[in-house]
Amino acid sequence: MRIFLDTANVEEIASGVKMGVVSGVTTNPSLVSKEGCTSYKELVQKICKVTPGDVSVEVIEEDTRGMLTQARQIARWADNVVVKVPSTAAGLEATSNLKQEGIRVNMTLCFSVNQAVLAALAGAAYVSPFVGRLDDIGEDGMALVGDIVDIFNNYAFETRVLAASIRHPQHVLQALRYGAHVITMPYKVLTQMTKHPLTDTGIERFLSDWRSTGSAFS
Ligand code: G3P
Repeated sequence: MRIFLDTANVEEIASGVKMGVVSGVTTNPSLVSKEGCTSYKELVQKICKVTPGDVSVEVIEEDTRGMLTQARQIARWADNVVVKVPSTAAGLEATSNLKQEGIRVNMTLCFSVNQAVLAALAGAAYVSPFVGRLDDIGEDGMALVGDIVDIFNNYAFETRVLAASIRHPQHVLQALRYGAHVITMPYKVLTQMTKHPLTDTGIERFLSDWRSTGSAFS
């Protein structure tokens, strides 16, 4: 499995990559807007430079023609770009065209198994079920991830299931149990994953016992 960061913040990405655990990034227009950038292309190129693997970059068009025009431009911005396209009929048409052109697509804003299966049939490299947003409306977002993984396995679909809209470490644990191929998370959740109070108190005790020896290190 792989961990991606769900952010457009270059410092956060560099920090996660340095830990050796983050291999990719997902962005969206809302995340980009938080970075106050003046050029989408420049920000994406900075992100792609510090990221060893795939960087999902979303089109900002609703019709197939507009999506295709933007997707072809975005695909030229860096070698590790994956174009993010919404899970709509227009998005499916764009995805199948882009697949034929060799441009990889992440179908985003997926909220049902049916949308995910269509994404796989259209040739998407990734499909992104949004867990937290389904939880927000009283549905079980993670059950959707589990269903998609199972059904993709039934048919040996190659499309990777990318669990998105992850809000806390319990979401991560559940996505791992369901076999999500990729989990994308905010930097805050990655930081939370590193922490355990017993690790902190354990370090404190080891260090204080060590100091009490008065011993030299070598
Ligand atoms: O990857 C999708 C993500 O950015 C959406 O997260 O928390 O806005 O639902 P959220």
